[in-house]
Amino acid sequence: MKSISLNISIEQYQNINELNETDAMLCNMAEQALASSYSPYSKFRVGTAVRLKTGETILGSNQENLAYPSGLCAERVALFSIGSAYPNAVIEAMAITAQTDAFEILKPVTSCGGCLQVMAEFERKQASPIAVIFYCLNGEVLKVPSIKSLLPFAFVEDRLEK
Ligand code: THU
Repeated sequence: MKSISLNISIEQYQNINELNETDAMLCNMAEQALASSYSPYSKFRVGTAVRLKTGETILGSNQENLAYPSGLCAERVALFSIGSAYPNAVIEAMAITAQTDAFEILKPVTSCGGCLQVMAEFERKQASPIAVIFYCLNGEVLKVPSIKSLLPFAFVEDRLEK
């Protein structure tokens, strides 16, 4: 038996002001995306902003449905809209934030497993890392350089293609 350790590096910031200007702007845009959240059931708004290599930024927010599983997370709304509108786009970074009137969110809200798997697919397709920034409106920010830091065991079974 051999034990394997993984080393994942996460940058932690006290607040948005410690980020570089480009990343801080991306967080601000994720915050703006909260306004279009359609979340009458959970009342939990999630916003994301995705920066493309071209400099363009695409927004997404969670979209719920009375038939609950038919809704979609903010991250996948943004990524799938990029996939369909800009199929050859290269993504540099994405910022995610969340808000609810029910309680104060004190820590960055991290993405669900389904969204991480979709992020992993986009990263694999473009063959270059996508940085992810989780931004808590109350302060703390977490940043990872690649989806690999968040989902090291993503389903990337290349043999499916053979
Ligand atoms: N949600 C997201 O938008 N992203 C995630 O990564 C996890 C959860 C949304 C789905 C639902 O509309 C609400 O948050 C509460 O689960």
